[in-house]
Amino acid sequence: MACFSLGDMSSKYALEQLRRWEIPGRVAFSEGNGGLPKIDVRTNWSTAEVYLHGGQVTHFQKNGEKPLLFCSQLSRFQEDSAIRGGVPIVFPWFGAREGEEMAHGFARISEWELHETGALPEGGAMLRFHLPETAKSSTWPPCSLVLVVTVTDKLKMDLVVTNSASDADFTFENCLHTYFTLGDISAVVVKGLKNTRYLDKQENYAEKADAADQIEIKAEVDRTYLDTAEAVEIIDRSLKRRILIEKMGSMSTVVWNPWIDKARQMSDFGDEEYKQMICVESGNVARNKVTLAPGKSASMSVVISSAPLA
Ligand code: BG6
Repeated sequence: MACFSLGDMSSKYALEQLRRWEIPGRVAFSEGNGGLPKIDVRTNWSTAEVYLHGGQVTHFQKNGEKPLLFCSQLSRFQEDSAIRGGVPIVFPWFGAREGEEMAHGFARISEWELHETGALPEGGAMLRFHLPETAKSSTWPPCSLVLVVTVTDKLKMDLVVTNSASDADFTFENCLHTYFTLGDISAVVVKGLKNTRYLDKQENYAEKADAADQIEIKAEVDRTYLDTAEAVEIIDRSLKRRILIEKMGSMSTVVWNPWIDKARQMSDFGDEEYKQMICVESGNVARNKVTLAPGKSASMSVVISSAPLA
Protein backbone atom coordinates (compact mmCIF):
# COMPACT_ATOMS: atom_id res chain seq x y z
CA MET A 1 0.00 0.00 0.00
CA ALA A 2 1.23 3.53 -0.70
CA CYS A 3 2.42 5.31 2.39
CA PHE A 4 4.01 8.54 3.42
CA SER A 5 6.98 9.56 5.52
CA LEU A 6 8.64 12.92 6.00
CA GLY A 7 12.08 11.87 4.80
CA ASP A 8 14.05 14.90 3.62
CA MET A 9 11.10 16.66 2.02
CA SER A 10 10.08 20.18 2.92
CA SER A 11 7.34 20.54 5.47
CA LYS A 12 5.05 22.20 2.90
CA TYR A 13 5.45 19.34 0.45
CA ALA A 14 5.04 16.86 3.29
CA LEU A 15 1.71 18.38 4.24
CA GLU A 16 0.45 18.29 0.65
CA GLN A 17 1.27 14.58 0.48
CA LEU A 18 -0.38 13.88 3.81
CA ARG A 19 -3.61 15.63 2.87
CA ARG A 20 -4.77 12.68 0.80
CA TRP A 21 -5.35 10.91 4.10
CA GLU A 22 -7.67 13.67 5.27
CA ILE A 23 -11.16 12.74 6.53
CA PRO A 24 -13.22 15.94 6.58
CA GLY A 25 -14.30 16.86 10.10
CA ARG A 26 -12.31 13.97 11.59
CA VAL A 27 -8.66 13.84 10.47
CA ALA A 28 -6.76 16.93 9.27
CA PHE A 29 -3.11 17.90 8.81
CA SER A 30 -1.27 21.04 9.81
CA GLU A 31 2.20 22.38 10.38
CA GLY A 32 2.92 21.67 14.03
CA ASN A 33 5.56 23.01 16.37
CA GLY A 34 9.01 23.35 14.79
CA GLY A 35 7.34 23.08 11.36
CA LEU A 36 6.90 19.32 11.85
CA PRO A 37 3.81 17.77 10.23
CA LYS A 38 0.99 17.15 12.69
CA ILE A 39 -2.19 15.14 12.46
CA ASP A 40 -5.23 16.73 14.10
CA VAL A 41 -8.02 14.36 15.12
CA ARG A 42 -11.51 15.43 16.13
CA THR A 43 -14.10 12.94 17.33
CA ASN A 44 -17.56 13.23 18.84
CA TRP A 45 -15.97 13.18 22.30
CA SER A 46 -12.42 14.44 22.04
CA THR A 47 -9.48 15.94 20.18
CA ALA A 48 -6.00 14.50 19.67
CA GLU A 49 -2.75 15.42 17.94
CA VAL A 50 -0.09 13.08 16.61
CA TYR A 51 3.31 13.86 15.06
CA LEU A 52 4.97 11.65 12.46
CA HIS A 53 8.12 12.51 14.41
CA GLY A 54 8.33 9.66 16.91
CA GLY A 55 4.86 8.43 15.88
CA GLN A 56 4.06 10.45 18.95
CA VAL A 57 0.64 11.30 20.32
CA THR A 58 1.20 14.71 21.93
CA HIS A 59 -2.34 15.66 22.87
CA PHE A 60 -5.59 13.97 23.92
CA GLN A 61 -8.42 15.92 25.48
CA LYS A 62 -12.02 15.07 26.12
CA ASN A 63 -14.44 17.84 25.21
CA GLY A 64 -14.98 20.21 28.16
CA GLU A 65 -12.10 18.71 30.22
CA LYS A 66 -8.47 19.56 30.80
CA PRO A 67 -6.02 17.65 28.52
CA LEU A 68 -5.24 14.13 29.71
CA LEU A 69 -1.73 14.20 28.26
CA PHE A 70 0.97 16.60 29.40
CA CYS A 71 3.46 18.18 27.00
CA SER A 72 6.18 20.52 28.27
CA GLN A 73 6.04 24.19 27.26
CA LEU A 74 9.79 23.88 26.65
CA SER A 75 9.70 20.70 24.57
CA ARG A 76 11.89 20.64 21.50
CA PHE A 77 10.20 19.84 18.22
CA GLN A 78 13.10 18.98 15.96
CA GLU A 79 14.24 15.96 14.04
CA ASP A 80 17.12 14.88 16.29
CA SER A 81 15.27 15.25 19.62
CA ALA A 82 12.50 13.47 21.45
CA ILE A 83 9.34 15.43 22.16
CA ARG A 84 9.01 15.99 25.93
CA GLY A 85 5.44 14.93 26.50
CA GLY A 86 2.49 12.97 25.20
CA VAL A 87 3.41 9.35 24.52
CA PRO A 88 7.02 8.80 23.37
CA ILE A 89 7.53 5.27 22.04
CA VAL A 90 10.42 3.61 23.82
CA PHE A 91 11.96 0.87 21.62
CA PRO A 92 14.05 -1.29 21.36
CA TRP A 93 15.77 -0.49 24.65
CA PHE A 94 14.65 1.30 27.80
CA GLY A 95 16.88 3.89 29.48
CA ALA A 96 20.54 4.27 28.63
CA ARG A 97 22.27 1.51 26.72
CA GLU A 98 26.01 1.02 26.54
CA GLY A 99 27.37 1.83 23.10
CA GLU A 100 24.13 3.54 22.01
CA GLU A 101 23.83 7.31 21.96
CA MET A 102 20.13 7.72 22.50
CA ALA A 103 18.39 6.83 25.76
CA HIS A 104 15.12 4.94 25.26
CA GLY A 105 15.95 3.77 21.71
CA PHE A 106 15.53 5.19 18.24
CA ALA A 107 11.76 4.90 17.70
CA ARG A 108 10.97 8.18 19.47
CA ILE A 109 13.35 10.20 17.28
CA SER A 110 12.43 8.50 13.99
CA GLU A 111 9.97 9.70 11.38
CA TRP A 112 7.12 7.22 11.22
CA GLU A 113 5.05 6.58 8.11
CA LEU A 114 1.31 7.11 8.02
CA HIS A 115 -0.32 4.11 6.30
CA GLU A 116 -4.03 4.47 7.04
CA THR A 117 -6.66 6.78 8.48
CA GLY A 118 -10.23 5.72 9.19
CA ALA A 119 -13.47 7.11 10.55
CA LEU A 120 -15.15 4.78 13.02
CA PRO A 121 -18.92 4.38 12.66
CA GLU A 122 -19.86 5.83 16.07
CA GLY A 123 -17.75 8.97 15.60
CA GLY A 124 -14.18 7.99 16.44
CA ALA A 125 -11.04 7.87 14.29
CA MET A 126 -8.05 5.60 13.80
CA LEU A 127 -4.56 6.16 12.44
CA ARG A 128 -2.03 3.47 11.52
CA PHE A 129 1.71 4.16 11.43
CA HIS A 130 4.74 2.05 10.55
CA LEU A 131 8.35 2.59 11.56
CA PRO A 132 10.27 2.46 8.28
CA GLU A 133 13.30 0.20 7.78
CA THR A 134 15.52 3.24 7.26
CA ALA A 135 14.84 4.40 10.81
CA LYS A 136 16.42 1.38 12.38
CA SER A 137 19.93 1.27 13.60
CA SER A 138 22.10 -1.03 11.50
CA THR A 139 23.18 -2.78 14.68
CA TRP A 140 19.61 -3.97 15.26
CA PRO A 141 18.23 -7.11 13.68
CA PRO A 142 15.33 -6.92 11.19
CA CYS A 143 12.03 -6.18 12.88
CA SER A 144 8.89 -4.25 12.04
CA LEU A 145 6.81 -1.91 14.19
CA VAL A 146 3.21 -0.87 13.69
CA LEU A 147 1.36 1.65 15.84
CA VAL A 148 -2.43 2.01 15.72
CA VAL A 149 -3.92 5.01 17.50
CA THR A 150 -7.68 4.91 18.10
CA VAL A 151 -9.39 8.05 19.37
CA THR A 152 -12.88 7.97 20.88
CA ASP A 153 -13.85 9.08 24.40
CA LYS A 154 -10.70 7.06 25.22
CA LEU A 155 -7.23 6.97 23.74
CA LYS A 156 -6.11 3.52 22.63
CA MET A 157 -2.64 2.69 21.37
CA ASP A 158 -1.63 -0.69 19.96
CA LEU A 159 2.04 -1.35 19.29
CA VAL A 160 2.93 -4.50 17.36
CA VAL A 161 6.54 -5.66 17.04
CA THR A 162 7.41 -8.44 14.56
CA ASN A 163 10.68 -10.29 14.28
CA SER A 164 11.28 -10.28 10.51
CA ALA A 165 14.39 -12.46 10.69
CA SER A 166 14.13 -16.00 9.36
CA ASP A 167 16.66 -17.62 11.63
CA ALA A 168 17.29 -15.65 14.84
CA ASP A 169 15.41 -14.63 17.96
CA PHE A 170 14.90 -10.93 18.62
CA THR A 171 14.92 -9.49 22.15
CA PHE A 172 13.69 -5.97 22.93
CA GLU A 173 12.25 -3.66 25.56
CA ASN A 174 9.36 -1.31 24.83
CA CYS A 175 7.27 1.28 26.60
CA LEU A 176 4.48 3.74 25.89
CA HIS A 177 6.07 6.45 28.01
CA THR A 178 2.89 8.35 28.80
CA TYR A 179 2.99 11.83 30.37
CA PHE A 180 -0.27 12.70 32.17
CA THR A 181 -1.54 16.17 33.05
CA LEU A 182 -2.21 16.76 36.75
CA GLY A 183 -3.73 19.68 38.63
CA ASP A 184 -1.15 19.48 41.42
CA ILE A 185 1.16 16.57 42.26
CA SER A 186 0.54 17.09 46.00
CA ALA A 187 -3.11 16.06 45.49
CA VAL A 188 -2.35 12.95 43.43
CA VAL A 189 -1.95 9.26 44.21
CA VAL A 190 -1.24 6.28 41.96
CA LYS A 191 -3.09 3.05 42.69
CA GLY A 192 -2.89 -0.52 41.42
CA LEU A 193 0.72 -1.41 42.24
CA LYS A 194 0.28 -2.71 45.79
CA ASN A 195 2.23 -5.89 46.65
CA THR A 196 4.48 -5.70 43.60
CA ARG A 197 8.24 -5.44 43.20
CA TYR A 198 10.12 -2.58 41.59
CA LEU A 199 13.60 -1.51 40.56
CA ASP A 200 14.45 1.81 42.18
CA LYS A 201 16.61 3.89 39.84
CA GLN A 202 17.13 6.34 42.71
CA GLU A 203 19.04 3.59 44.51
CA ASN A 204 21.04 2.07 41.68
CA TYR A 205 18.13 -0.13 40.56
CA ALA A 206 17.81 -1.91 43.91
CA GLU A 207 14.87 -4.30 43.82
CA LYS A 208 12.24 -3.47 46.45
CA ALA A 209 8.77 -4.58 47.45
CA ASP A 210 5.90 -2.10 47.45
CA ALA A 211 3.32 -2.83 50.12
CA ALA A 212 1.70 0.61 50.11
CA ASP A 213 -1.97 0.96 49.14
CA GLN A 214 -1.10 3.93 46.96
CA ILE A 215 1.95 5.88 45.81
CA GLU A 216 2.29 9.52 46.84
CA ILE A 217 4.91 11.65 45.12
CA LYS A 218 6.90 13.79 47.55
CA ALA A 219 10.34 13.60 45.94
CA GLU A 220 11.84 12.31 42.70
CA VAL A 221 10.32 8.92 41.88
CA ASP A 222 11.81 6.69 39.18
CA ARG A 223 10.61 3.12 39.57
CA THR A 224 10.18 0.21 37.21
CA TYR A 225 7.45 -2.06 38.58
CA LEU A 226 7.93 -5.63 37.35
CA ASP A 227 5.36 -8.32 36.57
CA THR A 228 2.53 -5.81 36.67
CA ALA A 229 -0.18 -6.67 34.14
CA GLU A 230 -3.06 -5.00 36.00
CA ALA A 231 -4.65 -1.61 35.33
CA VAL A 232 -3.25 1.44 37.15
CA GLU A 233 -5.22 4.47 38.32
CA ILE A 234 -4.16 8.06 38.86
CA ILE A 235 -6.43 9.76 41.36
CA ASP A 236 -6.16 13.53 40.97
CA ARG A 237 -8.14 15.35 43.66
CA SER A 238 -7.05 18.75 42.32
CA LEU A 239 -8.65 18.18 38.90
CA LYS A 240 -11.30 15.98 40.52
CA ARG A 241 -10.68 13.19 38.09
CA ARG A 242 -9.55 9.61 37.95
CA ILE A 243 -7.41 8.44 35.04
CA LEU A 244 -7.52 4.74 34.27
CA ILE A 245 -4.68 3.03 32.38
CA GLU A 246 -5.68 -0.43 31.16
CA LYS A 247 -3.20 -2.58 29.31
CA MET A 248 -2.58 -5.86 27.53
CA GLY A 249 0.76 -7.36 26.58
CA SER A 250 2.62 -5.19 29.09
CA MET A 251 4.30 -6.65 32.18
CA SER A 252 6.09 -3.53 33.43
CA THR A 253 4.87 -0.18 34.73
CA VAL A 254 7.26 2.73 35.11
CA VAL A 255 6.35 5.58 37.45
CA TRP A 256 8.41 8.73 37.03
CA ASN A 257 8.32 12.28 38.32
CA PRO A 258 11.58 14.27 38.07
CA TRP A 259 10.79 16.57 41.04
CA ILE A 260 12.70 19.81 41.69
CA ASP A 261 16.40 19.16 40.98
CA LYS A 262 15.97 16.95 37.93
CA ALA A 263 13.37 19.36 36.49
CA ARG A 264 15.94 22.14 36.75
CA GLN A 265 18.54 20.02 35.00
CA MET A 266 16.33 19.25 32.00
CA SER A 267 16.63 21.98 29.37
CA ASP A 268 13.40 20.91 27.64
CA PHE A 269 11.26 20.94 30.79
CA GLY A 270 10.04 23.88 32.90
CA ASP A 271 11.38 24.22 36.47
CA GLU A 272 7.87 24.09 37.94
CA GLU A 273 6.29 21.64 35.50
CA TYR A 274 6.97 18.63 37.73
CA LYS A 275 3.90 19.74 39.70
CA GLN A 276 1.60 19.30 36.73
CA MET A 277 2.71 15.91 35.39
CA ILE A 278 3.42 12.29 36.11
CA CYS A 279 4.60 9.54 33.79
CA VAL A 280 2.91 6.17 34.21
CA GLU A 281 4.45 4.09 31.46
CA SER A 282 3.23 0.71 30.21
CA GLY A 283 5.79 -1.60 28.68
CA ASN A 284 8.10 -4.56 28.97
CA VAL A 285 11.35 -3.60 30.64
CA ALA A 286 14.34 -5.21 32.38
CA ARG A 287 13.56 -8.85 33.18
CA ASN A 288 10.16 -8.40 31.48
CA LYS A 289 11.87 -7.79 28.13
CA VAL A 290 10.37 -9.75 25.23
CA THR A 291 12.04 -12.39 23.07
CA LEU A 292 10.40 -13.21 19.73
CA ALA A 293 11.14 -16.29 17.65
CA PRO A 294 11.62 -15.68 13.89
CA GLY A 295 8.43 -14.49 12.19
CA LYS A 296 6.58 -14.01 15.50
CA SER A 297 4.87 -10.82 16.73
CA ALA A 298 4.11 -9.33 20.14
CA SER A 299 1.45 -6.72 20.69
CA MET A 300 0.88 -4.32 23.50
CA SER A 301 -2.30 -2.29 23.91
CA VAL A 302 -2.92 0.59 26.28
CA VAL A 303 -6.30 2.23 26.82
CA ILE A 304 -6.47 5.54 28.67
CA SER A 305 -9.76 6.88 29.97
CA SER A 306 -10.95 9.29 32.63
CA ALA A 307 -13.98 9.87 34.84
CA PRO A 308 -14.92 12.53 37.38
CA LEU A 309 -14.07 11.74 41.00
CA ALA A 310 -17.16 11.13 43.07
C1 BG6 B 1 11.78 7.47 32.47
C2 BG6 B 1 13.01 6.92 33.15
O1 BG6 B 1 11.13 6.43 31.81
O2 BG6 B 1 12.16 8.44 31.50
C3 BG6 B 1 13.78 8.06 33.78
O3 BG6 B 1 12.63 5.96 34.12
C4 BG6 B 1 14.10 9.12 32.75
O4 BG6 B 1 14.97 7.58 34.36
C5 BG6 B 1 12.82 9.55 32.07
O5 BG6 B 1 14.74 10.22 33.38
C6 BG6 B 1 13.02 10.59 30.98
O6 BG6 B 1 13.94 10.15 30.05
P1 BG6 B 1 14.41 11.08 28.87
O7 BG6 B 1 15.45 10.28 28.11
O8 BG6 B 1 13.20 11.36 28.03
O9 BG6 B 1 14.95 12.32 29.49
